[in-house]
Amino acid sequence: MENMLPVLYIVASVLFILSLGGLSNPESSRRGNWFGIIGMALAVVATFFHSKVSPDAYATLIAMLVIGGVIGSIVAAKIAMTAMPQLVAGFHSFVGLAAVLEGINSYVEGAGLTGAEHVIHNTEVFVGVFIGAITFTGSVVAFGKLQGVIRSKPLLLPGRHLLNAALALASLYCGYLFFGAHDAAQGMTPLLVMTFIAFFLGWHLVMSIGGADMPVVVSMLNSYSGWAAAATGFLLNNDLLIITGALVGSSGAILSYIMCKAMNRSLVNVIFGGFGAEEGKAAPAGAQPAGEAVSISVEEVSGMLQEAKSVIVIPGYGMAVARAQHPIKDISDKLRAKGVNVRFAIHPVAGRLPGHMNVLLAEANVPYDIVLEMDEINKDFPETDVCLVIGANDIVNPGAIEDASSPIYGMPVLEPWKAKTTVVLKRSMATGYAGVDNPLFYKPNTRMLFGDAKKSVDGLLAKLQ
Ligand code: TAP
Repeated sequence: MENMLPVLYIVASVLFILSLGGLSNPESSRRGNWFGIIGMALAVVATFFHSKVSPDAYATLIAMLVIGGVIGSIVAAKIAMTAMPQLVAGFHSFVGLAAVLEGINSYVEGAGLTGAEHVIHNTEVFVGVFIGAITFTGSVVAFGKLQGVIRSKPLLLPGRHLLNAALALASLYCGYLFFGAHDAAQGMTPLLVMTFIAFFLGWHLVMSIGGADMPVVVSMLNSYSGWAAAATGFLLNNDLLIITGALVGSSGAILSYIMCKAMNRSLVNVIFGGFGAEEGKAAPAGAQPAGEAVSISVEEVSGMLQEAKSVIVIPGYGMAVARAQHPIKDISDKLRAKGVNVRFAIHPVAGRLPGHMNVLLAEANVPYDIVLEMDEINKDFPETDVCLVIGANDIVNPGAIEDASSPIYGMPVLEPWKAKTTVVLKRSMATGYAGVDNPLFYKPNTRMLFGDAKKSVDGLLAKLQ
């Protein structure tokens, strides 16, 4: 049966590639998901055909599959869409820990190797354990920050860059001792010391990054977990794990790059910048908004919508929290039936995970052709009668363009203040994720519709009936 293995591996690898291709577009994403599910099922089945898995181990393997499958299903069914980033971070921590344990185990097992084989094996062990350990503690901290159990403010230790550099050098020195060791017993000490240094490095690197940069960090840890899995694949001589790890590693890296671009940051700046240090504090002096926020009632907004010829809806994190996507879709249907040009504008980092808004709008069956990306729709605001900003804040902050002292200056944003009237639906004047005040709320053509977004949108829908 073992000669079935390469065939299953190739088929699973192709399915994973097709899955990634499918996920790149909302219309094909369901199909992409299915490719991924079938590929993973094949990969799991293939494990049974591996020469190292004897039939005696089948019972344990099946028991583990059932336990893991049940836990995974319960977690997936219970998790709120808004908690998805921390779930992803939690899962990455398992990949990192598995790479560490597998690396150390493989080092003990490979004690008899000699020559080039010995050097290659040790390199795989050392690199795999290092990346795995950073991924493990880094992901645990990212989980804690996103879940709110660790404060999201960055921990800025004095001389932190020097400390990181010293830790990296200490790891290199451990590598020197590890490769020079005569036997596994002698090499184990530097390997374990490096493991603890890397655990600390992962903890420290993510602790010193502010909450606003967590999405990029989670995506980077996603990439690390892929490379750790690929290193484990080399150790286990498992081609499928190498391919899958490389796919996860490179797609995570590309996603981090796209997110950095959407926030106008460089990856180096995210890792070492300590952005978000001022989170929760008052905005800098130059950023103090002028003017007064003017509130508006549901009746008045419904009147505006009935008069409008073009409407743009900007969904943000608050729409996800309130779960307001269904009634807003009904409102868009009603307006479109009357001939109003209704579109949805999506910012690349709206919400709390990439594609967050697209997923919610797809769930509410909003047609894909009226959902437009920021670059496609920004030019249309001046010709728009009413812009509804539903639970969005940072992604519509004009300070990112107009105020050089704003912490988010330079981040590309949607520009609803150019519309004739903008209505912001939120519960209070509170800041968004980046902790920055928003001058949009004080613009003369902005009106604030205070309250939970779902209640406000339900109220609007009732008025439009
Ligand atoms: P935010 O800037 O976080 O603003 C969300 C707003 O929603 C808040 O100001 C809040 O105001 C309002 N809100 C919360 N619950 C609400 C409810 N039930 N009803 C009505 N309003 C509610 O969100 P955004 O504009 O979508 O921007 C995303 C931010 O998150 C960016 O800073 C981005 O960098 C960051 N981030 C993005 C990601 C990705 S990849 N998408 C991941 C993590 C972080 P009130 O409290 O006054 O209601």
